[in-house]
Amino acid sequence: MEKQHHHRGSWGSSLGFLMAAIGSAVGLGNLWGFPFKMGANGGFAFLLVYIIMTVAVGFAMLMAEMAIGRKTGRSAVGAFRQLGRGSAVVGYMGVISGTVVVSYYCVLGGLCLRYCLGFFTETFGGTGFAGHGEAFFQAFTANPWPMLLFTGLFAVITGAILLGGVSGGIEKFSTVAMPALFFMLIALAVYIGRQPGAEAGYAFMFTPDWAYLKENFFSVVSTAAGQMFFSLSLAMGIMVAYGSYLKKDENIPRDALLICGADTVIALLAGCLVIPAAFAFVGEDAYMSGVKLLFVTMHQVFFNIGGRFGCFLGFIFFLTVCIAAITSSVSLLEVSVSFGVDRRIDKHKEPKRTRMIAICTLLVFLLAVPVALDAMGGTPGATPLGLLQQWFPALAVKGWNESFINAYSFISEGFLMPLGALLMSLFIGYKYQTDLVTHECGIRRSRVLEVCYRFIVPIAMLVVLYGQLKDFLG
Ligand code: PHE
Repeated sequence: MEKQHHHRGSWGSSLGFLMAAIGSAVGLGNLWGFPFKMGANGGFAFLLVYIIMTVAVGFAMLMAEMAIGRKTGRSAVGAFRQLGRGSAVVGYMGVISGTVVVSYYCVLGGLCLRYCLGFFTETFGGTGFAGHGEAFFQAFTANPWPMLLFTGLFAVITGAILLGGVSGGIEKFSTVAMPALFFMLIALAVYIGRQPGAEAGYAFMFTPDWAYLKENFFSVVSTAAGQMFFSLSLAMGIMVAYGSYLKKDENIPRDALLICGADTVIALLAGCLVIPAAFAFVGEDAYMSGVKLLFVTMHQVFFNIGGRFGCFLGFIFFLTVCIAAITSSVSLLEVSVSFGVDRRIDKHKEPKRTRMIAICTLLVFLLAVPVALDAMGGTPGATPLGLLQQWFPALAVKGWNESFINAYSFISEGFLMPLGALLMSLFIGYKYQTDLVTHECGIRRSRVLEVCYRFIVPIAMLVVLYGQLKDFLG
C-alpha cells in the first residue's frame, strides 16, 4: 500500500493542493462565461442564485469528490469501482468528458497563446496583429497549420507540466501561477475601473433585475447551476483524483469552502474587468460572450487603449488567460493520466506515468484536430453538420452541430457532466449514505448535507440537464 501511494504521488503542502485545485476551477469559464451570464441574467439577482447554488450544490459535491478520492486513494474510475461495481460508470463518464473538454480546451488555449504572443511582439514594435480585430480572428482560425501548431503547443505545455509529477509539476506550477494570475487581474481591473465609460459595464453586471429573475426563474437557475458546476470542475473526477493525493489530516470542508470562495471571487473580478473594458473601449454592441468576447472584443479593447502601453496590457491580459487555461487543462489531462496509472497499479504493473502522459497528450491532440480545423464553425461543410448532411441531407442546424467545439461541449457539459453529477449525488445520497462523506471529512453526521445529496443536487442537475439539452438541441 505504502509503495503504491509513493508511486501515485501526493501533494507537498496544503497550500500547494489548494492552489492546484483553485487553478483547476479558475479557467475560461470564469473569464468569459461568468461575467456575461451574470449581466444578461439579472445582474445581482443572478449572483445571489449563483451563490446559493455554489453553497448548496457545489460545496457539497466538491467535498464529496475530495472525500471519495482520499478515502479510496484512487482516481475517478478506480475510486467509484472500489465503492461498488455499479458506480464505476460515473468514473468512466468523468474520464470521457474530461478528455473531450481538454481537447477543445487545447484549441482555445492555443488561441490564447497566439494572442499573448501577438501582443507581446507588438509591444516591441511588431506589426500585423493589433487592430485587426475580427478579421484577424477569422483569418487565423481559418488557417489550418497555425491552428494545429498552437493547439499542439498548448497540449505539449500541459503534458510537460504533468511530467513534473503531482507535487513537482502541477503543484509547483500552480503555486507560482495562481497568485500571479490574481495580481494581474486586480491590476487590470483597477486600470479599467479608472477609465471613462466603465460605469456602464458595472451597471450592466451588477444592477439587480428582480423582475427578470421572477419571469425567467427556471432558466436563471439552470444557467447559474450549469455555470457553477462547470466552473468548479465538478463531475469529471478531477477533484476525486486531486483528493486521492491528499494527506489524511487535510481539512476537506475548509478546503472545499476556500475553493468555492476563490472561484467565485475570481469570476467576479473578471466581471469587473472584461465587461467594463468592453463597454468603455469598444461599445455596447461588442460581442460580450463566448469565444468572440475574448478573441475579438478584448483584442479590440487593448488596441483601442492604444500604443505600446495598450499592447503591453493586452499581453498581460492574455498571459492571465493562458495561465487560467493551463492550470485547468493540466487538471483535465491528469484525469486520464491518473486513470491509466491506476489501472496499471491495479494490475500490479509499473505505473509508467511518463508513457501514460505521452499517450494521453497525443490522444487529446488527435481529438482536438477537428475542433482546430473547422474555423469555429466558419468552414461550411467541415462542421459536424456539414459532414453528417452527406448522409442525412435533412438535418438542420442546431446548437450542437454548428461547429466541432459546440458538438464537443454538447457531449461534455451538455450531457455527460450533469448526468454524472446527478448519478453521483444519488449514489451518495441513497446507496452509500452521507456518512461516506462526513466520516472521511471528520465532521458530524449532517441532515443538511443529506438533504443536499438526496434532493437539492439531483434536482439542480435535472434542471441543468433539461436546460442544456434544450439549448443544444432546440
Ligand atoms: N473550471 C474550468 C473553468 O471554469 C473549466 C474546467 C471544467 C476545468 C472542468 C476542468 C474541468 O473554465
